[in-house]
Amino acid sequence: MGPGWIAERFTESVQAHTSQLIAAIGSRSLDRSEAFAGRHGISHSFGSYEELAASDVDIIYVATPHNFHYEAALLALDAGKHVLIEKPIGINREQAAGIADRAAGAGLFAAEAMWTFFLPKFDVIRQVLDSGMLGDLTTVLAEYGEHFDRSHRIFDPALAGGPLLDLGTYPLSLITSVLGEPDRLLALGEPHESGVNAQLSAVISFAGGRQAMMNTQLHNFTPTSATIVGTEASLTIDGPFNMPGGFAIRFPDGTRLAYEEPAGAHFEGLHYEAAAVARAIAAGKLEVPQRPLAESIRTMAVADAIRNQLGIVFPGESPATVRRD
Ligand SMILES: NC(=O)c1ccc[n+]([C@@H]2O[C@H](COP(=O)([O-])OP(=O)(O)OC[C@H]3O[C@@H](n4cnc5c(N)ncnc54)[C@H](OP(=O)(O)O)[C@@H]3O)[C@@H](O)[C@H]2O)c1
Repeated sequence: MGPGWIAERFTESVQAHTSQLIAAIGSRSLDRSEAFAGRHGISHSFGSYEELAASDVDIIYVATPHNFHYEAALLALDAGKHVLIEKPIGINREQAAGIADRAAGAGLFAAEAMWTFFLPKFDVIRQVLDSGMLGDLTTVLAEYGEHFDRSHRIFDPALAGGPLLDLGTYPLSLITSVLGEPDRLLALGEPHESGVNAQLSAVISFAGGRQAMMNTQLHNFTPTSATIVGTEASLTIDGPFNMPGGFAIRFPDGTRLAYEEPAGAHFEGLHYEAAAVARAIAAGKLEVPQRPLAESIRTMAVADAIRNQLGIVFPGESPATVRRD
């Protein structure tokens, strides 16, 4: 649903690496739907999202711009379809919780397509963290910047532009997945001439004196690195940390353990989420352990808290939707 840039990457990856069938495409335009279907050998194309939702598919992958995820997901759920929704799951906590409630009420599967957490390397990272090898976790440092052509939707305020939802959601998801619920945060941001936020940084504290620092910006590429620090060792994920690739664990005595994997991008990585979702649905589950809905909701709550401090309001939100702390 929404055959744009990421839908192309997702389709190529799923078709190449799984036996799943991309059965139909739904676009706001029949021409775009048919063109996409033609490029990828897909048998059914619809000229509206409503027709796709009413069709005979098992699950709908929502790949519209951020501020249409909520209505697209509800359209699919209300038609009795499971949903996999591109990141961020919605534009705020309220939308994320609304999707989770609607799915649970209907007994349908829902997940945020936070593909990073479905990659094999994150399975290994989770095992490292669970093993206690790093000691007590104290700090997470994570950032994400990228260069965009000026025509990209990230510069469009009407599409909830700015780096927070496109890029910042990766470091924020990592930080909250590792350290949990924050107790305090301080954010600084700078506007872009287009009217969206250009960059923001946040310092976040958690129970027990643990801290995280994040930056996200749309000016240019950064290492997109992430480091998880513990009292016994630190783990640094090769950049871009959200994509396939390696990571290393360093101990104070100079010992270094490396997880080696060729760097990859969407083609190499997006199919893992599709496979995990299919396995979960086949097993009768309504969520995936790699990205529980409660974690998607928590990430959006932290993004809301950052926006509160910076006065960033997305389309369709009243300032009251993004509550001030
Ligand atoms: N997982 C990842 O690595 C990754 C990477 C990039 C993007 N994403 C996420 O995927 C979502 C889509 O990003 P994208 O880069 O694929 O965007 P995109 O290229 O602009 O595609 C979005 C599609 O949504 C549909 N759409 C519905 N309402 C629209 C509107 N008002 N304006 C524009 N398009 C509208 C359009 O298809 P029709 O009009 O034909 O229906 C359009 O092709 C975003 O939420 C983004 O965060 C994820």
